[in-house]
Amino acid sequence: MDKLETLEQFLEFVKVKTSFKYSHTLPLSHQGRVDSKEKSLTLIIIPMPDLLVKLYELPDVRSHIDELQQKGVNIRKAMAYEKHQIIEWVEDNFGPGWASECDVAFGNSRISCFIATENNNIMGFACYDSTAKNFFGPMGVAVQARNRGIGKALLLSALDAMSHIGYAYAIIGGTESIEYYKKAVGAIEIPGSSPGIYKDKLK
Ligand SMILES: CC(C)(COP(=O)(O)OP(=O)(O)OC[C@H]1O[C@@H](n2cnc3c(N)ncnc32)[C@H](O)[C@@H]1OP(=O)(O)O)[C@@H](O)C(=O)NCCC(=O)NCCS
Repeated sequence: MDKLETLEQFLEFVKVKTSFKYSHTLPLSHQGRVDSKEKSLTLIIIPMPDLLVKLYELPDVRSHIDELQQKGVNIRKAMAYEKHQIIEWVEDNFGPGWASECDVAFGNSRISCFIATENNNIMGFACYDSTAKNFFGPMGVAVQARNRGIGKALLLSALDAMSHIGYAYAIIGGTESIEYYKKAVGAIEIPGSSPGIYKDKLK
């Protein structure tokens, strides 16, 4: 193994050699994968399996959307004319990989992307049928807008749309937020699915 002298070299090594996803825009402490102490770096690999969700037993989505609307947050489908703004926002907040996946959602004949807005600003997004057919994700909420139920409303909106186009189950692709999805929609882990389709990632 090459000698890895900087944090950047180390993270590049993690990204290229392990196929595990890593978002460089998030504070490292939030990712729980890197421990930086006295110039030594320790890799803590968190598996990122796919999860399965029953679309025929989803919690009610409307109440979540209405509750947020009363607080000035709109959850709605993304429109074609705002594609450039949404993709740029996703890239700025979550990196180029998720921006690419979001771009694909705009190529679907029914745009498969929901967004959250507040005061005409984007607060979050969620895509489906992007990374692969039947896959939910990626999804992200602006750091300053978290813990207000926006993620759950985006998640339920996208899953509800997947149910309406005929899917019985959805697959949440390669996630480390397993507990979040378990709690929100009763997701279960698909055995042996990490790294799943996220193999041989380009440098
Ligand atoms: C995961 C994410 C979308 C949740 O958005 P959010 O709007 O904050 O979520 P909600 O408000 O619906 O839910 C917040 C609750 O989920 C919990 N939660 C958030 N992220 C969690 C995680 N990774 N694991 C477990 N619980 C989590 C919060 O502690 C909070 O709990 P509480 O209701 O008991 O207080 C957001 O944290 C995010 O963008 N994270 C970075 C990107 C990401 O990981 N995306 C998902 C993988 S594709």
